[in-house]
Amino acid sequence: MVHAMIIQRIPTGIPKFDELIEGGFPENSMILLVGYPGAGKTTFSAQFLYNGATRHRAKGVYVCFAETKETFLKNMMRFGWDFERLEKDGRVAILDLSVTRESGLQKNLDTIMETMTSLNANRLVIDSFSAISMGLKEPIDIRVMIHLLYRFLKKANCVSILILDQPWGSTSLGEGISEFLADGIIHFETYFDKNEILRRRFRILKMRGTNHTRTPHEYDITSEGFVILDGEKSKEEKSREEEYSVRRGFTDLLEVKGIGVKRSNLLRSLGIRSAEDLAEADPKFLASNLKISRRAASKIIKNARKLISD
Ligand SMILES: Nc1ncnc2c1ncn2[C@@H]1O[C@H](COP(=O)(O)OP(=O)(O)OP(=O)(O)O)[C@@H](O)[C@H]1O
Ligand SMILES: [Mg+2]
Repeated sequence: MVHAMIIQRIPTGIPKFDELIEGGFPENSMILLVGYPGAGKTTFSAQFLYNGATRHRAKGVYVCFAETKETFLKNMMRFGWDFERLEKDGRVAILDLSVTRESGLQKNLDTIMETMTSLNANRLVIDSFSAISMGLKEPIDIRVMIHLLYRFLKKANCVSILILDQPWGSTSLGEGISEFLADGIIHFETYFDKNEILRRRFRILKMRGTNHTRTPHEYDITSEGFVILDGEKSKEEKSREEEYSVRRGFTDLLEVKGIGVKRSNLLRSLGIRSAEDLAEADPKFLASNLKISRRAASKIIKNARKLISD
């Protein structure tokens, strides 16, 4: 008997990225994001949560083990991602667990689980997994911890990104266990080109149940966050704004009935950059941020849907 199993896809909303993995991460998957210092691991993962919360009605939990919540919030504001507001709106939760590192893994997992449940979240980022394992000296502890975490994540019914910090020059990805358990592995690399310019590229090494890209892809961290470049380096000279609209070919927000310059700027700062994004926005989120009624927000979303379907 043949079962046609359809794997539901969880989009990152990152331009061009989802196309490389058949539309998004497989549902309920555990993804390892391995990369060098400053490669953009935090940016990519935060963008996944931000897009989820603002465009896909997906709630998310970000767990900071490596940096403090305050630094995280400040850095993300540089991309125009107001996580503080999302947290106030109950669309994300940011847990700063660095101070409770001594209190043990199980307690931290309980805190994460409680937050995931009370928020009804289905996206989770642990930044970083390496920071948790640093507290464990014996390999046996690490093994136990990984299995504990894996079982926990499968129960949590979410897509999780576990960040693994890779020292420069190191060729090994993880500790030899998590790579086999993970449903997907993405590798972020920084390198110097022949002109000594710092460049970035990523590879997808594994994505279960997915016909994923097998070539390396160039990317950059820009004021818009994670951007795939892919052989379009001349575009680096263009303004980021222009690049974005050229890449996506999406409909301008100003074409949506009810959206003027002021609202369009406000929406952009919330990560809603096109009529297509707006069509998928959550009315409650929109209403609270544009300071309009839920009804008016639904109307605008309807207008956006109509515009793109025409
Ligand atoms: N607003 C910005 N505009 C352009 N580039 C930025 C901006 N903010 C950060 N970057 C670039 O991104 C890098 C940091 O990205 P990020 O913090 O996501 O990396 P990371 O892999 O999480 O780093 P770490 O290993 O330190 O945790 C910086 O070193 C810088 O090159
Ligand atoms: Mg980081």
